[in-house]
Amino acid sequence: MNAIIKSVGVYLPEFIATNDVLKEKYSLDTSDDWIKSHTGIAERRIVQDNNTLTADIGYLAAKNAIERAGISPSEINGIIAGTMTPDKQLPALACCIQERLGCKGFAFDINAACGFIPPALNTAALMIRSGQAKNILVIGAEICSRVLDWSDRNTCVLFGDGAGAMLLSASEESNRGFAGMALAADGSFSSILYLNTLGAEASFLRMEGTSVYKLAVSELGAITQRALENAGLGMADIDLFVPHQANIRIIQSVGKRLGLSAEKVMINVDKYGNTSSASIPIALYEAEQQGRLKPGMLVAMAGIGAGMNWGCALFRW
Ligand SMILES: CC(C)(COP(=O)(O)OP(=O)(O)OC[C@H]1O[C@@H](n2cnc3c(N)ncnc32)[C@H](O)[C@@H]1OP(=O)(O)O)[C@@H](O)C(=O)NCCC(=O)NCCS
Repeated sequence: MNAIIKSVGVYLPEFIATNDVLKEKYSLDTSDDWIKSHTGIAERRIVQDNNTLTADIGYLAAKNAIERAGISPSEINGIIAGTMTPDKQLPALACCIQERLGCKGFAFDINAACGFIPPALNTAALMIRSGQAKNILVIGAEICSRVLDWSDRNTCVLFGDGAGAMLLSASEESNRGFAGMALAADGSFSSILYLNTLGAEASFLRMEGTSVYKLAVSELGAITQRALENAGLGMADIDLFVPHQANIRIIQSVGKRLGLSAEKVMINVDKYGNTSSASIPIALYEAEQQGRLKPGMLVAMAGIGAGMNWGCALFRW
């Protein structure tokens, strides 16, 4: 029995903030030109209603994934969620989404920020392969706009709001599903990207952009290579590379290092900015909509985030 990605669902807030809108709204000393040339970002979505919670948008993405799979919430055996913008310290976001879905089973969060997807897929896939569950939802949901310091132009222009969900299901299909994995972390980088939620210091996302940039470029490529080696595969086997969407320059440098042609690299950071834990599911969803995924194709999903931690998950579509 293998674990396949049965469906992907998203929730994208309606309000589109272009770079010019952002500049105007927050009186930022920036320009559309600077943001586009340094990050590739043209616009991002922002949740407008203060009553909307991270659990609400995570629920909507999950509902979308369940509907697209044609199953009912009662068939879900567990939820693994990730966010850097939880509504509460406790309980876990996964439990808040479980309540909204009205399903049973296990529910817990993985704290890996933008690096959430690889460890979450690893956990879900291994639980399914070991027979502990048949259907597991992996959900990333973020209202980043609430934890940004709008006076820090280095950081606030990079992020966006959104949610993405992936339904992993048990399947006997031999040419689809989980194909390999590599995970890593280095806690000595804990000060280059962090968000204090407890204590006296204001709770805004803080980042040393250049350090994060350098680490992302070197490690996303290396971890993808390691995942392929672990699976007994080579770079030529990758049909679509779906990396965490943080900065187009990071994505293109990694793609170049790996020797991947542009058609094999999924990019949509231009439309959504960095949606942290939601970025890979949102990118995968769009790749599917664009007809870029065919059964049996090898998809490499590489993420990196606060910790710093990073990983790459390989799945046959
Ligand atoms: C943040 C980032 C875009 C900065 O790009 P960069 O090319 O490294 O730019 P620099 O840091 O060299 O800054 C260049 C100048 O632009 C300025 N600048 C920064 N943000 C700006 C903005 N939004 N508008 C205009 N100017 C800006 C800086 O202040 C600096 O000016 P100075 O030289 O007068 O001090 C880039 O480092 C990055 O993307 N890092 C990774 C971020 C990331 O992915 N985080 C999440 C990971 S999960």
